[in-house]
Parts: sequence; structure tokens; C-alpha cells
Amino acid sequence: MRNNARNIANMAEPRQKIKFLNLPSVIFPLLLLFLRASGSGTGAASDTLINGANITDGKTLVSASGSFTLGFFSPTGVPTKRYLGIWFTAASADADAACWVANLGNPLGNGSGVLVLSSTGGLRLLDGGSGQTVWSSNTTEASASSVAKLLPSGNLVVQEQNSSAATAILWQSFDHPSNTMIAGMKFGKSLKNDTEWSLTSWRAQNDPATGAYRRVMDTNGLPDIFTWQGNVKKYRAGPWNGRWFSGLPDMEDPNYRLFTVQMLEGADEVAYVLNAIAGKPFSRLVLDEAGVVQVFVWITRGWTSFPWLPADDCDDYAKCGEFGVCNAATTPQCDCLQGFSAVFPSQWSQSNSSGGCRRDEPLRCGDGTAADQFKLVSGVKLPDTHNATVNMSATLEQCGAMCLANCSCLAYAAADIRGGGHVSGCVMWTGEILDVRYVNRGQDLYVRLARSQSATRKRDVAKILLPVMASVLVLTAAAFYLVWICKLRAKRRNKDIMEKAILGYSRAPNDLGDDNVDLPFVSFVDIAAATNNFSEDNMLGQGGFGKVYKGTLGQNLEVAIKRLGQGSGQGVEEFRNEAVLIAKLQHRNLVRLLGCCIHGDEKLLIYEYLPNKSLDSIIFDATNKYLLDWPTRFKIIKGIARGLLYLHQDSRLTIIHRDLKPSNILLDEDMSPKISDFGMARIFGGNQQEANTNRVVGTYGYMSPEYAMDGAFSVKSDTYSFGVIVLEIISGLKISLTHYNGFPNLLAYVSMELMDRWQNYGSCGLMSG
Ligand SMILES: *[C@@H]1O[C@H](CO)[C@@H](O)[C@H](O)[C@H]1NC(C)=O
Ligand SMILES: *[C@@H]1O[C@H](CO)[C@@H](O)[C@H](O)[C@H]1NC(C)=O
Ligand SMILES: *[C@@H]1O[C@H](CO)[C@@H](O)[C@H](O)[C@H]1NC(C)=O
Ligand SMILES: *[C@@H]1O[C@H](CO)[C@@H](O)[C@H](O)[C@H]1NC(C)=O
Ligand SMILES: *[C@@H]1O[C@H](CO)[C@@H](O)[C@H](O)[C@H]1NC(C)=O
Ligand SMILES: *[C@@H]1O[C@H](CO)[C@@H](O)[C@H](O)[C@H]1NC(C)=O
Ligand SMILES: *[C@@H]1O[C@H](CO)[C@@H](O)[C@H](O)[C@H]1NC(C)=O
Ligand SMILES: *[C@@H]1O[C@H](CO)[C@@H](O)[C@H](O)[C@H]1NC(C)=O
Ligand SMILES: *[C@@H]1O[C@H](CO)[C@@H](O)[C@H](O)[C@H]1NC(C)=O
Repeated sequence: MRNNARNIANMAEPRQKIKFLNLPSVIFPLLLLFLRASGSGTGAASDTLINGANITDGKTLVSASGSFTLGFFSPTGVPTKRYLGIWFTAASADADAACWVANLGNPLGNGSGVLVLSSTGGLRLLDGGSGQTVWSSNTTEASASSVAKLLPSGNLVVQEQNSSAATAILWQSFDHPSNTMIAGMKFGKSLKNDTEWSLTSWRAQNDPATGAYRRVMDTNGLPDIFTWQGNVKKYRAGPWNGRWFSGLPDMEDPNYRLFTVQMLEGADEVAYVLNAIAGKPFSRLVLDEAGVVQVFVWITRGWTSFPWLPADDCDDYAKCGEFGVCNAATTPQCDCLQGFSAVFPSQWSQSNSSGGCRRDEPLRCGDGTAADQFKLVSGVKLPDTHNATVNMSATLEQCGAMCLANCSCLAYAAADIRGGGHVSGCVMWTGEILDVRYVNRGQDLYVRLARSQSATRKRDVAKILLPVMASVLVLTAAAFYLVWICKLRAKRRNKDIMEKAILGYSRAPNDLGDDNVDLPFVSFVDIAAATNNFSEDNMLGQGGFGKVYKGTLGQNLEVAIKRLGQGSGQGVEEFRNEAVLIAKLQHRNLVRLLGCCIHGDEKLLIYEYLPNKSLDSIIFDATNKYLLDWPTRFKIIKGIARGLLYLHQDSRLTIIHRDLKPSNILLDEDMSPKISDFGMARIFGGNQQEANTNRVVGTYGYMSPEYAMDGAFSVKSDTYSFGVIVLEIISGLKISLTHYNGFPNLLAYVSMELMDRWQNYGSCGLMSG
């Protein structure tokens, strides 16, 4: 099963051989599954063990849903060692994927294990040979009426019979996790009793004995999760900010998310629970033997895994030392916060930054206001809060004032970002500022500096800002005047321009005929409002001809708005082309144009909004690519083929797209592909088969050789691009990748591989013939 998982991972991993069709690796696990299923068919397994009964090696308990199985297993490569564990039933052939193990460091011999439920000691695992207890649940309250039951969530509980109340649970396996967390489990600390829900790594992939790493929640300061190696902090998730752990913003990313996270912060406990999301595949988080938190996802009969934490070198705890900040995108990755310099510059140049940074100027307490004493550092994972002071009832302003008033306060930040623009809560650091890094959707940290430093900067800033602001004012005034003038005429003119643009073009030869294009016109003001005045936050992407924004028209119509490059003469033709073409074409694998707008120099197209973005953002993305299973990949390929067939044959016209590539294939919520970006498309009339152009446009790698070299294009050029896209979808590799496995590129490699296979099959045929 692990091999199978690797095969799935391979298709997205560069520098590996592509397996086109590896029959043994597909059929063998299936056979195994089938054999296991038929082998254990000695009557329907129950989910309950009643008092006095037992389970011997070879027997199992199966949860009511069938999802989980409790029984004995041997890890890969050590068939003589037996462990009692719970596993995801569908993955039964993967012995190293147990979600929970009882006798972690005490393996049993083959066939000797017996799990009994006694009225005095709860669950006990005995060595049938010697009669010794190798593991016990220590449930002292157990009575003659208690039963052990494997719940549909995969939780093994000892409870009073016939009672489903949570209070009746005397013992549960979810309170004693091994190295794995699954939906429904808690992680954190109970404040009532001594219970701590933590993960402990295995010694090796096939040895569940206690390994080197532990992942625990720290409830000092804000709740945070640490991975410890012995008593050394290795990795840190970042303080809980009300929505996610500061360093793991992808917990909330809908494209990535496999669970929802629920934080329980009460008098009884500080813990979080992962809840499964309906429709998402079964997933588990594993603290592996190297201390890495891996996410395993069960996709088409195999595990697909990817590392979650650490994601890169910047996740090494305190990599840049005190007052340092890590940026994974730069070289070197470590830098000092503004106003600080390296303590040992010579070591920094040897990329050892653990010595950290110190102040350029000493702090003098008590002068100035919060605004001129604190420097804002944006977009970061907040520092370790273990020694920090937290006050959830303060506002950010009060926080600044409190920090300013206390001479030992070095930095502050909002503790709760749930309010969006109105963050709240207060966390103040008095000791060290440790383990800060830049992350996507990072938070604001205010760091105290000597007043003179922030003040000089202010003056510098003012020198630049004043003239800039003056000119902005003048320009704004001019713009308002122009807008006022234009508005007087715009209403009347807009429609004329629109008609001229579209109808004027469609009357040209070689075109769509003279049907009117019935395309709703949307006013520029509405579009500006819908996109928050074209704010950066609304930007979805940037194409060759301009930027694309997300917007909401009317009450809740989500749209994607393409704003063609302002003033570029190039845009006009593409605009007409696209507006006319797409308005005419209706197919479920082509993106739908909902409206357009011409406003002075501005040309905008309004499309349906597709939540899953473009194909390239999935198949080439470090994490998303693992979540795309074979049936979905095949569905995408078929969808593109259907859309292309419509363009080439089934519509009234023959349309050559000329720029097919993954970034022009958009995906809707069901992952159905839609071809977009018709700016370069050409229409063939009548029996025209081929055309030539002096202006070769498109993207290298996807262009057929005759088009790239001679400018000759036909439906075959699109078909060539389609073939390249199919290769990319199957392999997860970019065509632009150079030097692939000793070949100049992916195409050369694939042709060679195909040739080899063809020859092999040929000689096989000859031999058997
Ligand atoms: C397990 O149960 C069987 C009968 O179901 C019994 O004969 C056997 O002694 C039990 N074993 C233990 C260790 O309790
Ligand atoms: C374990 O015991 C079973 C049944 O007694 C036997 O079929 C199997 O071969 C044994 N496995 C090993 C590794 O000894
Ligand atoms: C049960 O108690 C024994 C002895 O106190 C201890 O060694 C063992 O770890 C306990 N087992 C569990 C599951 O807590
Ligand atoms: C539990 O329920 C079963 C049948 O529903 C009943 O026969 C049995 O007596 C009940 N046991 C207890 C302890 O209530
Ligand atoms: C400790 O308390 C938690 C609730 O905070 C509970 O879930 C857990 O079962 C308790 N553990 C023990 C050993 O009582
Ligand atoms: C890195 O620098 C720190 C602090 O100066 C020093 O203690 C440590 O030994 C250095 N580590 C290496 C690997 O040079
Ligand atoms: C928390 O902050 C509020 C608002 O500034 C303040 O009134 C309160 O005294 C603070 N609480 C503590 C324990 O410092
Ligand atoms: C400053 O903050 C520290 C740490 O929170 C605290 O121990 C100390 O009492 C505070 N000092 C004043 C004057 O409030
Ligand atoms: C917290 O304080 C302790 C004791 O002063 C110190 O050893 C530790 O390094 C501090 N931790 C952080 C993260 O500042």
C-alpha cells in the first residue's frame, strides 16, 4: 500500500520516472484487499466486546460504519512482532498506518495476543502464552456491566452498557493518542485532571516504540503547538489567533483544507478538535519518526502524503535567533528586525544566524507615544508567547498604551484576529522575541524601538511623502474634474461605443455574421464598487492583457472581472475578439461571459467566477497537486477535449484558440474545466483549413513547431497544445522544465520512453509468436 501511495506521489514529483501504466502496482494491492476481505469472512464482526469476552489474534472488532477495525497486526518487515491497533479499514494492507496502537513498546509473539475486558481492570492485553499483561487501560471504575466498543469515529471506549452519554465513558483511546491524529480527536490539555492530548513519534516507520519527537500544546501565553526533540524545541505552529495557528494560515484555505478546526478554550480544557468535512477524503495527521507532521490522504485506494510542518527551513525553531526574522523567499533567509543588527556578523555570513540580533540604539524608557515608539512588522508568524502576557479584553490601542507604559514590554500584537479589520486582544512580550518568520496572511507585530530611530525615519518619510501627497492632490482634483465632464456624456456615449466596438467588428469579413450581440453592459462605477475599487485583495491573477479581479455584483453574484491593460493599443482588438466570440459561444466547457464595459480607455470583461482557479494552480502546486486524484484528472482531460471539439467542429464556426495552456483552463466547483482567454483566437470561415500569420502569439512549449517557426496555424495547433496539457496533467511536470532525466525536455523524454515501450512490446510479441 505504501508503494502504491508512492506511485501516486510520483506522478507529481520531478526527477522521477513517469509510470504510464504499471499494472502490477495497481492490481496487486487490489488483490490483497480482496484476499483479506474474503479471508476474514468468518461471520460479521461486531463493534462491541462484552465483559468477560476476549479477542484473540486473527479476530477483529469493526466499527458500525465499517470505517475502522481493531485487531492485531505486524508492521512491514517484522512479521514476528504483533501489536494491537486500530486502522482505517479500507487501508488494511498498510500495516504501518495504524491510527492507534496499544502495546507500543511491548510487541507480542505471533498468535499469542488476547485482549480481554474484565470487570475489575477494564481492558487488558495479555500474552496468551505466559499470561503476562503487556498493556492495560487501568480503568479502575469498570464493572460487570461495562463494555468496550469501537465507535464509528475510530475511538475505542470502555463505557457502561446501553449508555451513550459521554459521562458514562470510563476510558477512551482518543485520550491516549499514538503518533496520529484523526477527525474527532482532541489535542491540548485538560485543566481539570492531568490529561494531556499529545502526539509521540514512533521509533521507526515500522516500530511503534516511543521515538524522539513529541508534539504538545503549550498553554502558557497563547495556545501554541511545539514539536520537541527531547527538551529542545524543533518546530512551532504559532500562537492561536482565533482562526488558525499563526504560522499555519492554510488551515483555513478552502483549497487545502481537509478538516475544520474547533478550539475549546474553557475552564476545563484548552484543546482543539479536528472535524471532518463532508465529501473530503479520509485524512490523518502523523508525527513521523523524523519529527515532521505529515498529512496522509486516502485517495483512490492509496495514501497520498505531504509534509505540513516544517514546510521549509524558516520553520526551524528560532533559526534567526533573538530579534531575527526569517524569510523563506530570500537568500540568506535570516535578517534582523528593523533597528537591530547581527550580534555575530561573521557567523551570519557562514549562515549561522542563531546568535540573533541586538539593538542599534539602547531603549530609553518613558518618552514618546505608542505611534512613534513602535515599528510595525507586517505579515509574520507571531513570536513564541511562552513568557508573554495576554489580556483578551483589551483593544489593540489599549494594548499599545499598556506596552508603552511598561518599560519591560518589548513588543505587542493583537491576540484575536476574528474581527477582521477590528482585531482585539493583547499579547505583550517582555523577554525575548524569538522565532519570527514571514508567512502568507501573517499578522502585525509592533516592536519597540528607541524614539530617535523611529523619529529620524519619520522625517525621511516626510521628505518623500510631502511632494508625493501634493502631486496626488493635484492629480485627484484634475481627475475629479475630468470624471465630472465625462459623466455628463458617458451615459449617452457608452452604449454607442459598445455597439460600435462589437457591431463594427462583427461586420468585418471573415466573421460572425450580423446577428446582434446581446451582451449586458455594466457600468464602470458598479464594477469599481464590486471589486472594492480594484483592490489588490480582490485580484485573482494577472494575464498577458491585464489583471483579473474577483467581484460581487448586485446582492451576491460572484464574478471574475478582466481589466484589459489601460491604454495599450493591443488590448482593443483582443477585447472585441473576446467579447464577440465568447458571447456567441455557449458550451459547458467554455467560460461564460456575463457582460462587459467600456469606459474611456478602460475595457472590462465580466465572466462567471470559478472558485477553483486555473489548472496550473492545482497541478503544479506543492500541496494541491497531491489532492487531485486520477478520476478527476481524467475528467479534466475529457472536459478540455469536449470544449476543444466544440470550438473546432461543433459550433457554427471553426475557432482556433491559439493559446491553450493550463493557466487558461479554469476549474469550477466540481473541477469541471472551462477554457478561457480567447484574446488570440481566430475564426476560420467556410472550408478554410489553415492560415498564416506574421505575428506569432502564444506560449512557447505549447505552440506546435510549425506555428512557432512559420506562423502556420490550424486546428492541429490547438490539438498539439492539448497533447502537451494532457502530458502535464498526467505527469504533474511543467513542459518548460529543462533537462528532464537527461533529456532536453519532457516531450523528448516521453517520445523516447514511448519508443522504448513500443520496442519492448514488439520483441515480446515476436518471442511469444
Ligand atoms: C477467551 O475466550 C475463550 C472463549 O470465548 C476462552 O476459552 C478463553 O479462555 C479466553 N481467554 C482468555 C485469556 O481469557
Ligand atoms: C503466525 O501464525 C499463523 C497461524 O498460526 C501462521 O499461519 C503464520 O505463518 C505465522 N507467521 C509467522 C511469521 O510466524
Ligand atoms: C497503567 O498503569 C501502569 C502501572 O501504573 C503503567 O505502567 C501504564 O503505563 C498504565 N497504562 C496506561 C494506558 O495508562
Ligand atoms: C441493555 O439493553 C438490552 C437490550 O436492549 C437489555 O437486554 C439489557 O438488560 C440492558 N442492560 C442494562 C445493563 O441495562
Ligand atoms: C480529563 O478531563 C477531560 C475533560 O477535560 C476528559 O475528556 C478526560 O477523559 C479526563 N481524563 C481522565 C483520565 O479522567
Ligand atoms: C552558531 O552560532 C552560535 C552563537 O554564536 C554558536 O553558539 C554555535 O556554536 C554556532 N553553530 C555552528 C554550527 O557554528
Ligand atoms: C486588560 O486590559 C483592560 C483594558 O486595557 C484593562 O482594563 C484591564 O485591567 C487589563 N487586565 C489585566 C489583568 O491587566
Ligand atoms: C511590566 O510587565 C511585566 C510582565 O508582564 C510585569 O511583571 C510587570 O509588573 C509590569 N510592570 C508594570 C510597572 O506594570
Ligand atoms: C521564558 O523564560 C524562561 C525563564 O526565564 C527562559 O529560560 C526561556 O528561554 C523563556 N522562553 C522564551 C520563549 O522566551
